[in-house]
Amino acid sequence: MEPTEADRLTAFEARLARGEKIEPGDWMPEAYRRQLIRMISQHAHSEVIGMLPEGAWITRAPNLRQKLVLLAKVQDEAGHGQYLYHAAETLGTTREAMIAALLSGQAKYASVFNYPSLSWADIGMIGWLVDGAAILNQTMLARCSYGPYSRAMVRICMEEGFHKKQGQEMIIRYARGTPRQRTLAQDALNRWWWPALMMFGPHDSASTNSADLLRWKIKTRTNDELRQEFVNELAPDLQALGLAVPDPALQFDATAGNWISGELDWDEFWRVVKGGGPCNAERLAARQKAHDDGQWVREALAAYTARSAAEAA
Ligand code: 3HC
Repeated sequence: MEPTEADRLTAFEARLARGEKIEPGDWMPEAYRRQLIRMISQHAHSEVIGMLPEGAWITRAPNLRQKLVLLAKVQDEAGHGQYLYHAAETLGTTREAMIAALLSGQAKYASVFNYPSLSWADIGMIGWLVDGAAILNQTMLARCSYGPYSRAMVRICMEEGFHKKQGQEMIIRYARGTPRQRTLAQDALNRWWWPALMMFGPHDSASTNSADLLRWKIKTRTNDELRQEFVNELAPDLQALGLAVPDPALQFDATAGNWISGELDWDEFWRVVKGGGPCNAERLAARQKAHDDGQWVREALAAYTARSAAEAA
């Protein structure tokens, strides 16, 4: 007798409980598949759009070494986007559908990339804060129940380690540098601290997807847990450099061993998530232009594929 849908769901959740990885050919609930396509494709969009704030500074790097480091980092992000688009394609979506969803504004990408990078110190602060936040989130996702996403994260996390360290090294140098360098580092911190905290998403109580994501072990930790770990790690390190975290309410709770931060500006969070940030239009326009400029490559590939198929027939 054919197993019922309920039997299949019970068997699926038993596999998750045993810590098994779900692979592309395995049975999975349609809602699990849809959640993964949503999350992985938006993660991929974030990697690709995340190249834009840093790409603007490649031609303005202060020296050849810094230029090479930034080039390597931006190239890594492009590769991360490819891993993740491929991981999403294993779930039955197509690259065309994902890119169309992004360019139409239907799909999201990390709101942090809708802020401008205004000085070279921003490149260091993005590396330390934004990639540092991404590492916490992605280390958690490396334990994701979906095999291709989990394995993509293992490779990406190794490269993110370099991204964070190069940014941290730059900020340490600036914080110990000239008064102007210290001013640039503090200004960058003032502008990137809160957008980096927003990368962890809404409060757990306000998260619309977290219940499913946690139930199906797509995520294994909550947004607020990861955000707290981030603040605990960064606050003392930044203060040790003489930099002021731009949060007047920040205080250390010795009992819990946590740095308690003030409340995020959730109006700003949702405004930027919904397209009203300083650079949303600019980022999507740049992505649309890149897509349009690549049309000839897609047409050439399609023509080659068609001719190869005709010759093979
Ligand atoms: N930026 C943009 N959109 C966000 C967001 C953010 N920081 N936080 C939440 N949202 C969106 C969600 O996508 C969702 O919209 P949707 O239903 O249309 O997709 C809506 O707001 C409600 O959000 P949720 O309550 O469902 O948010 P979650 O609890 O799922 O948390 C998340 C959001 C933390 C981004 C989570 O989806 C996640 O962990 N995603 C995978 C990791 C990821 O995408 N990281 C992007 C970082 S960029 C990066 O790593 C590049 C590196 O090189 C720096």
